[in-house]
Amino acid sequence: MEPLVAAIDQGTSSTRFLVFNAKTAELISHHQVEINQSFPKEGWVEEDPREIMQSVYECMERTCEKLCQLNIDIFSIKALGVTNQRETTLVWDKETGEPLYNAIVWLDLRTQSTVERLINKAPGRNKNHLKHKTGLPISTYFSAVKLRWLLDNVDEVKQAVVSERAMFGTVDSWIIWCLTGGRNGGVHCTDVSNASRTMLFNIHTLDWDPELCRYFDVPMEILPKVRSSSEIYGWMKSGSLAGVPISGCLGDQSAALVGQMCFREGQAKNTYGTGCFLLRNTGTKPVMSEHGLLTTVAYKLGKDESACYALEGSVAIAGAVVRWLKDNMGIVQSSSEIEKLAAAAGTSYGCYFVPAFSGLYAPYWEPSARGIICGLTQFTNRNHLAFAALEAVCFQTREILDAMNQDSGVPLMQLQVDGGMTSNRLLMQLQADILCIPVVRPTMSETSALGAAMAAGAAEGVGVWNLSPNHLPDVTSEKYEPQINSDESEFRFARWKKAVQKAMNWETT
Ligand code: G3P
Repeated sequence: MEPLVAAIDQGTSSTRFLVFNAKTAELISHHQVEINQSFPKEGWVEEDPREIMQSVYECMERTCEKLCQLNIDIFSIKALGVTNQRETTLVWDKETGEPLYNAIVWLDLRTQSTVERLINKAPGRNKNHLKHKTGLPISTYFSAVKLRWLLDNVDEVKQAVVSERAMFGTVDSWIIWCLTGGRNGGVHCTDVSNASRTMLFNIHTLDWDPELCRYFDVPMEILPKVRSSSEIYGWMKSGSLAGVPISGCLGDQSAALVGQMCFREGQAKNTYGTGCFLLRNTGTKPVMSEHGLLTTVAYKLGKDESACYALEGSVAIAGAVVRWLKDNMGIVQSSSEIEKLAAAAGTSYGCYFVPAFSGLYAPYWEPSARGIICGLTQFTNRNHLAFAALEAVCFQTREILDAMNQDSGVPLMQLQVDGGMTSNRLLMQLQADILCIPVVRPTMSETSALGAAMAAGAAEGVGVWNLSPNHLPDVTSEKYEPQINSDESEFRFARWKKAVQKAMNWETT
């Protein structure tokens, strides 16, 4: 039996467990469980850390059952990687093993006033004041401000810090700590890609930065140990996979870059999940953006390997706009129905939808922006709205692609895409039309999980996955060519930009 490698992909909307063949990268089996989000107040987004772990255990056990039904020996699983929604912030008690508050999800806006206060006190009110060390603007998006909120507002967190029982982590840290034993010796760690999204991490020294920790007044002793993205962190403590090494850890967007095999400088991918994230590999040197993009650590595939960096364009709302149309508006019964509705319209009929539910991320970084739908007429129906929602995802991608091209000076000639939404063929065609370049989608769209599995299988002491360029597996893909002329595309994009201006100034215009 050929060696298998597994990956946990804990995303914002669901948890998945997937098992791959380490020689061919073929997906052998998987299981997925949806995750509930709660919105206790306007702008707040939380998830239950216990539910996250239950979903991880459930996905693992169900996948192992499926493997048994396929007569596949689960002992062929040689390693396990973890990939996760980034920035989402947790604090737990290391003695009881219990979370001290819900996970504050990356989209959460509760820290908007803290962020405004921090920007106001920065020299020249410059939101990029910490960018030289972190690669990031001061924003509600990153973990440091969420952790600050927990330290200021949750008594259990304050007390646990005083009594030295508090542990902070992003979702990867929580999962690895729980799986390696939790309060009975669990490993408290994270990897460089996840750490680089906290605003407490220096992307040059690749370690927590005392000055940044002082800036946010965060006690350094509650932070996890920073490791590379590919090494053995610990071993599964219980369950069907007890004893399997956990040896890969990457934020989901970094994992997708690896899974799309974008190892060379200049290669890029765009992943459509809850949000939408375009990352371009910039090699072993961090490149600072002049057009509203982030500089982030992409991966470090081994303790002694160099770190690779990426420029990133982050869009907060992509798949989440479809979930909103389903859960809040009841316009569709299931997420997959959106394609049928949008196809029935074939146009938005001049309707533009800016889903700035959590402010606007790249390239604007405007937390006070709010969603708008404009251009409505008596004729507009739900099909047009469905089309406008999909078009919004494509326009937002166009904005970050333009910024990326301006920063690098070398335009991308085609866009590699992945993630759940890419099974929507209408969306893929629209994306090619709006970008005016071909869009290429791998037939197996679970690239984040594949990237985490590759990192885990290649780790020292595991060695079942060969990452050298001539050993990378062949992937089959589908290509979408632009089908409208660029004048029409530019006209629609210009209209979109006008709508964005209204979303940015919705209170004043
Ligand atoms: O930065 C947030 C990102 O990691 C979330 O990814 O796939 O859950 O939208 P996703």
